[in-house]
Amino acid sequence: MPLVNTKEMFKKAYEGGYAIGAFNVNNMEIVQAITEAAKLENSPVILQVSAGARKYAKHAYLVKLVEAAVEDTNLPIALHLDHGDSFELCKSCIDGGFTSVMIDGSHLSFEENIAVTKKVVEYAHARNVTVEGELGRLAGIEDDVNVNDEHASYTDPQQVQEFVQRTGVDSLAIAIGTSHGAYKFKPGQKPQLRFDILEKVQTLLPGFPIVLHGASSVMPEYVKMINENGGKMADAVGIPEEMLRKAATMAVCKINIDSDLRLTMTASIRKHFNDYPDHFDPRQYLTDARTNLRNTVQHKIKNVLGSSNRI
Ligand code: G3H
Ligand code: 13P
Ligand code: ZN
Repeated sequence: MPLVNTKEMFKKAYEGGYAIGAFNVNNMEIVQAITEAAKLENSPVILQVSAGARKYAKHAYLVKLVEAAVEDTNLPIALHLDHGDSFELCKSCIDGGFTSVMIDGSHLSFEENIAVTKKVVEYAHARNVTVEGELGRLAGIEDDVNVNDEHASYTDPQQVQEFVQRTGVDSLAIAIGTSHGAYKFKPGQKPQLRFDILEKVQTLLPGFPIVLHGASSVMPEYVKMINENGGKMADAVGIPEEMLRKAATMAVCKINIDSDLRLTMTASIRKHFNDYPDHFDPRQYLTDARTNLRNTVQHKIKNVLGSSNRI
């Protein structure tokens, strides 16, 4: 089976009340761990590449790794650009073999966001590539996305309908209280998501796939493992998994997870070096990292996304 776009995946996910996991990839071990987990669960999956990942690993290496995973697993896999910030970046990924792109115009005015998203949609759809847009701003920090709390804002459901109609996007990321990174809520703050916004969007646009970014649960066992092995990650807290499960039964068809993979990998490597201070063969500590990553992804697919056996 060749790489697929997200159209069919999202249609089935919406109707089936589950979500597809979109996991960020940066190297071979991460690609292998995610796709091995998806194979064990007989689940479709999205592998997504950020601008930072593309800079780190290079476009051609990531595409070939993902193509190898498709060949190895024979699963429906979409290769997606995460947080594309310009038409040129989206075009370059579409021309270079991606089957799905995100154009993130959430930092622009409503009209500017519509204009750039529409331009990407026209280019992408002519090439059978699906497009994700974003409306509303999530707080949080990554390489190329840095929004502090005061600039974050919830999505206005009334704007969603107009945005979708005028741009023709295939899916839309909305802000309902999730945020990027490992510190999603302040110490003592009760994690909350605005399910009322999601419900309104769902009512206004029945059948339209919604995307949740910043959806790591910041797995406590791996934060603990990091702290027990020389790390310092006090107060790291994420989105409770039962909230994500609930969102997946609603209009949310794609759930983005990166930080939990980073935590899993870092904790595993830290522990390995603590347990075996004499080891210096990367295959030894990367094997631990890959095994735990596979377990993390399998857990998400089975217990959070609900996408097991949906091929
Ligand atoms: O939301 C984006 C992902 O966590 C990717 O982060 O830009 O540091 O690769 P990155
Ligand atoms: P997390 O930082 O919560 O894993 O979110 C990742 C993400 O949204 C990638 O686009
Ligand atoms: Zn994101």
